[in-house]
Amino acid sequence: MSQTQREAVDSRRTFAIISHPDAGKTTITEQLLLFGGAIRQAGTVKGKKTGNFAKSDWMEIEKQRGISVTSSVMQFDYDNKRVNILDTPGHEDFSEDTYRTLMAVDAAVMVVDSGKGIEAQTKKLFQVCRMRGIPIFTFMNKLDRDGREPLDLLAELEEVLEIESYPMNWPIGMGKGLEGLYDVYHQRVELHRPENYDGERFIPLVEGDIPADHRLHQDAVYNQALEDVELLVEAGNEFSEEKIAAGKLTPVFFGSALTNFGVQTFLETFLQFAPKPSSHVTKDEQEVSPYEEDFSGFVFKIQANMNPAHRDRIAFIRICSGTFERGMDVFLERTGKKFKLSNSTQFMADTRETVEEAVAGDIIGLYDTGNYQIGDTIYSGKLKVAYEELPQFTPELFMKVTAKNVMKQKSFHKGMAQLVQEGAIQLYKTIVTEDYIIGAVGQLQFEVFQHRMLNEYNTEVIMTPMGTKTARWIDPKDLDESMSSSRNILVKDRFDNPLFLFENQFAMRWFSDKYPDVELKALL
Ligand code: G4P
Repeated sequence: MSQTQREAVDSRRTFAIISHPDAGKTTITEQLLLFGGAIRQAGTVKGKKTGNFAKSDWMEIEKQRGISVTSSVMQFDYDNKRVNILDTPGHEDFSEDTYRTLMAVDAAVMVVDSGKGIEAQTKKLFQVCRMRGIPIFTFMNKLDRDGREPLDLLAELEEVLEIESYPMNWPIGMGKGLEGLYDVYHQRVELHRPENYDGERFIPLVEGDIPADHRLHQDAVYNQALEDVELLVEAGNEFSEEKIAAGKLTPVFFGSALTNFGVQTFLETFLQFAPKPSSHVTKDEQEVSPYEEDFSGFVFKIQANMNPAHRDRIAFIRICSGTFERGMDVFLERTGKKFKLSNSTQFMADTRETVEEAVAGDIIGLYDTGNYQIGDTIYSGKLKVAYEELPQFTPELFMKVTAKNVMKQKSFHKGMAQLVQEGAIQLYKTIVTEDYIIGAVGQLQFEVFQHRMLNEYNTEVIMTPMGTKTARWIDPKDLDESMSSSRNILVKDRFDNPLFLFENQFAMRWFSDKYPDVELKALL
């Protein structure tokens, strides 16, 4: 790979923002995009007030319910870095989608509402990041409101998430009394209202304190912050780049996304420590370097009909190595089939542009006519790699599905096949009668499914709830159809692997007692 291409790889910073709904993920994303010049006006991403719905709110159902259902990708340049932000849906019913997106990033930013601390969804998403060992950066948001004590928030990170923390800056007051940030890392004070202090925004620290004659010294809140910082320097964790890189220590930044305070400092410091693209592991445990000459990548998301006017379908690819060039030939590892990648797209906050060239770390969108599946690897040349499988989740909720109008069987089957391939829902069939059963992790997935079947495939579906079930796969060689009953329904998944849907834990235990040699397996 040429020096210029290597430099291009090294400039990439690809990350996702995770949070519990309402912690401020959309607001901070928007501020970052404003700094990057990717949007010109606040409200573009969210658009609730301005009515400018942007990509992350593209679906009708999102508009109706005011939630972000699907992930999208935003790119901009800042400080000689090319930043790729992968958006993730906040609602927990779509956590499967978020988990897969987290497989495609090199770091995560965790936004926490400083009035609420670590909430349920943040905790779950954090666990996925930890599983991957990626660096996690924390932004304690909403400092313009009275929130929890900063020391308590740090303690909570350590107790609830069991991760060490290092405050990069420290709040000087909060809510109405917010004076600024004591920036430990940059050794400066960042003022919230510089106009109250001769207009200077940053005051450099001298030996850990501002010059003695500065007016801030008369401020009790400043002196309290200084005491906290001294305590942290004495008793807190040490700053360690190695620990950050290994996901063992999270640098913590305070700020307020809404009033755009502390966000730029966060962005600049984050870009300094966030990792550049690293090697990716294949199924046979080989590492592929991002500088590898040949192109390779994997599909982490498929999204249909992003633009209702065109009814298109896009496969999102995380590039792991080599250079993507428009029109290049690639192989799809699963089928061995060769394709020409002529129709590709790159994502900005409010537009889509055709990509001509992209490198490891970048995300490209390929127009898909039904070739790709979630987790597919594509490669060029002699590389012949297959990347690790993306995690699949054991669904817990099930519905029987039929088309209301028997004349619509064709579009019913087409819609089912495509939405299943997209990973929007999981599909099972009963063994004998081949009835369709769909499984989901959250109820909203069903609603989106039903809505999309109607709007995109013109098929009204009838869904009969089957309630919660425990799905367990078994080895086909152990299978005997007489094992099936109404309390453990025998079905096959879309790869024809057999599994039982147990009515509850008791039914499962009863089964295991009766067939002790049959191993029951769950997905994640
Ligand atoms: P999310 O994507 O994580 O779900 O959160 P989002 O950014 O939509 O923010 C949730 C709410 O919190 C919004 O208010 C937003 O304006 C507010 N918010 C975000 N950051 C801050 C902050 O730093 N300080 C304060 N005080 N509020 C903040 P909303 O009224 O629910 O929505 P909207 O009507 O303003 O769009």
